[in-house]
Amino acid sequence: MLNESRGSFDDIPRDPSPSADLCTVVYRSRAVKPLSDLDLKSLLRTAQARNQREAITGVVLYDSSHFFQWLEGPPAGVERVMESIRNDNRHRDLEILTKGAAPQRRFDGWDMKLAAPGASATSLRSEALEPPRDIIDGLRRQPAAAPSLLVKLVPLLPADNESPLSASLAGRELGNSAAAILRTVILDAVIPSLLDAHGFPPGRIEAPRANPRACELAELLIASDQTAALDLIRELRGKDGDVEQLFAPLLEPAARSLGDLWDEDVCSEFDVTLGLCRLQTAARLLGADSPRRILRVAQPSVLIAPVPGEIHQLVAGLDSEWLWHAGWSPRSEFPANERDLGDMLSSNWVDILDLSLSAAFRREESMPRLAGIIAGARRASRNPTLVVVVGGRAFVEDSAVGAEVGADVSSRTTRDIDRRMLESIQADGIVSPIVRAGRVQ
Ligand SMILES: Cc1cc2nc3c(=O)[nH]c(=O)nc-3n(C[C@H](O)[C@H](O)[C@H](O)COP(=O)(O)O)c2cc1C
Repeated sequence: MLNESRGSFDDIPRDPSPSADLCTVVYRSRAVKPLSDLDLKSLLRTAQARNQREAITGVVLYDSSHFFQWLEGPPAGVERVMESIRNDNRHRDLEILTKGAAPQRRFDGWDMKLAAPGASATSLRSEALEPPRDIIDGLRRQPAAAPSLLVKLVPLLPADNESPLSASLAGRELGNSAAAILRTVILDAVIPSLLDAHGFPPGRIEAPRANPRACELAELLIASDQTAALDLIRELRGKDGDVEQLFAPLLEPAARSLGDLWDEDVCSEFDVTLGLCRLQTAARLLGADSPRRILRVAQPSVLIAPVPGEIHQLVAGLDSEWLWHAGWSPRSEFPANERDLGDMLSSNWVDILDLSLSAAFRREESMPRLAGIIAGARRASRNPTLVVVVGGRAFVEDSAVGAEVGADVSSRTTRDIDRRMLESIQADGIVSPIVRAGRVQ
């Protein structure tokens, strides 16, 4: 009997939304024994014939021990095929990684392609593709990230097939070449021009240089005289009041200094929390002087939230202020628990989830839980290729921690967060319906 990590198939949404006639399921399972080329060929033959009848498309990746499969199509057909797959004794330990209504097909035209390392050198080469090493490594390290990793196979589709992204971008009435041009335009021109519109030069993002007086500011923040703290912030923020001068060089290092003062037993945890609130108030007060950019281009849909249970909200506050100044319209929420967060992600399309921990404390103890929260968020998300950004002191000091908890982007500073977000979408090669629709500010 095969296991399934999430409820029965009956909970594939059948609501009357535009996507109710299409659903996606992504699962992982373990091969009972290694499959030969011949075994794989026979599996593919059956799958492709039946998928064509059921209007199901997708990809199955076999890495010699596990299968990862993406299926998409009408819910009833997907349900029937999943029933057979669940009962197939060539694999076991089947675990659903994501399932739900889908706004569009990602693997249009693939009645079921096989992705397997080494397949291009076998008799399977005409129906198989070679998955890049980083996708295989990513799947082994972070199985829960399978939806976003499998989608990265889409651009590897041979040119004579219609790519799902281009089909959906162009509308089906447009031919393959027009669709391909549109896709190229969005990924190669629209997103770079957005990056450019923000004045982002190509190349590395430099680590922000801390203002040497940030420690002095932290000490004032825990003292009783708050006017002195605000005066110092005013003095240090630069003449034009630009948030660029305020956030990364000053407020973020001051927050870390507050954590250090607590470490040295100079102040209590309550003092740190109060100090962070004061920094957030200063960001609001002084940031209001800084002009907001007018964006007349599409932008992704961003949900900003502190990790459920995190009481420090400075990172979420600064990210939200920064994006607002950049002309975006992020949604800020404060989910009480993981279910709350899941509801937010399943009820609305979200391109980017920005989750944050404390700007002052390292929160080492929170990491295993955060990994679970991120995996759960991906499962709950309506967007199977949700980009997850994490921020907070832990990620500033060790750039590897973000990947360890399963995030796509580990943010070291609020500055340039919009750039990191746009680049991560571009790297995925995925454009959500909202970006495609060209939501204009
Ligand atoms: C890893 C794996 C992936 C499969 N993918 C599909 C698929 O996409 N479509 C399909 O019809 N059958 C697929 N099958 C085969 C089904 O399990 C099943 O053998 C086939 O649909 C025939 O079903 P039936 O025996 O109930 O008639 C897959 C099997 C395995 C082990």
